[in-house]
Amino acid sequence: APSKPFSRPLLVPKTAVPVHQSSTTDYYDMAIREASALILPGFRTWIFGYDGLFPGPTVRASVGRRVVIRQRNRLRRNVVVHLHGGLVAPEYDGHPADIIPPGYYRDYVYPNRQPSATLWYHDHSHRGEAEMVFYGLAGFYLLEDPWERGLNLPAGRYDIPLMLRDAHFDKRGQLVFAMDDRRRDTLLVNGRPQPFLDVYARRYRLRLLNGSNQRNFTLRLSDGAPMTVIASDGGLLPAPLRVAGVTLSPAERVDVVVDFGRYEPGTRVVLLNTAGTNGVTRNVMRFHVGRRVSDSSRVPDRLGQGFDLGSATVVRDVNLHMDPRSGQFFIDGRAFDMKRVDMKIRRGETEIWRVHNRDRLPETMHNLHLHGTHFQVLDRNGGPVAGHETGRKDTVAVPVGGHVRIKVRYDRHLGRYLYHCHLLDHSSMGMMAQAEIVG
Ligand code: C2O
Ligand code: CU
Repeated sequence: APSKPFSRPLLVPKTAVPVHQSSTTDYYDMAIREASALILPGFRTWIFGYDGLFPGPTVRASVGRRVVIRQRNRLRRNVVVHLHGGLVAPEYDGHPADIIPPGYYRDYVYPNRQPSATLWYHDHSHRGEAEMVFYGLAGFYLLEDPWERGLNLPAGRYDIPLMLRDAHFDKRGQLVFAMDDRRRDTLLVNGRPQPFLDVYARRYRLRLLNGSNQRNFTLRLSDGAPMTVIASDGGLLPAPLRVAGVTLSPAERVDVVVDFGRYEPGTRVVLLNTAGTNGVTRNVMRFHVGRRVSDSSRVPDRLGQGFDLGSATVVRDVNLHMDPRSGQFFIDGRAFDMKRVDMKIRRGETEIWRVHNRDRLPETMHNLHLHGTHFQVLDRNGGPVAGHETGRKDTVAVPVGGHVRIKVRYDRHLGRYLYHCHLLDHSSMGMMAQAEIVG
């Protein structure tokens, strides 16, 4: 039974500690294992966790400094780890063919040569990612930049990652996974149901990640106060953007700055999901505003670099659809086959992709996520997109019966990268394909 909302404090996932540091590299060692977690009051819930944690430990990386993570598989099934939004070589990207069998480990090398951003890592095992992420195999990877520190945005304990997701529990408090489950009506933030957070009356940076398998969030503050969006999937926006709310499809991120200094101490402000149902999935978490403290942070008018991929030479169509007879999910009429290359792309060439959602039923929302690059969103159903979608993106929502146009360029490594719907129930049932980047 869902507990009373806002009765337990938010947990901030613990920060992973390197086991070794060289002049160029931070080395981590993690065990992927079963564990129990205190999620619902009065229950111990079995989970899969990086280092047994739900969510996994937060990796804090710096631009220009390499990270190597040794992932040890202590489960009885294969796992694969993907750094979502990370620009990494194909062999470290978590291709479903590159499994870590039970009892083995694999070293993932992350160069961190990309703008600072809120990234996350999660399981990507073949046909298993929906279930494995549902049971807990997800964690934050915060890529920071010394230059960004100079902007004087809220930092340290005033910079809080929030992994939002839904889940379904049985009467004994255990997670129950079923593909395409519509009963996932318990909202978790960093692994706790509808928590509260004590904040000072000052500015905070909140890093919002939609970690759900298929739920959309439309997030607003209960008093209608604006939030300032400073970053999207791939890093800082060129300029801050004041918004009343923001919609995130699965795997999308935004960083917002909320000024709790505008409230009287004692005020309570709820983070609402206006896409949710009253009393159940509408309340995400609550902020309890405490005393006023001095706040030297600010949100400057200029933030990151602009992102423009220039003019395109190739135009293609990508079609997402569900086959109602087989219940399979397809891209361009085919279910994922890891031995098949679905498109060849020249490195360094800019392309426009018209991504179509060919389904009509209201529950067949899709999105598209690309591995190995970031892209620009041009328009949705021919009209403008939300402000935060104009920055570097790696995931974009494709509405029912509609389309988006994105500008894409792969200019790093040659080799194979996945692209797929990030409603993980769909990707696990075939809505995934791979591009081969050629020279
Ligand atoms: Cu976050 Cu291929 O996934
Ligand atoms: Cu989908």
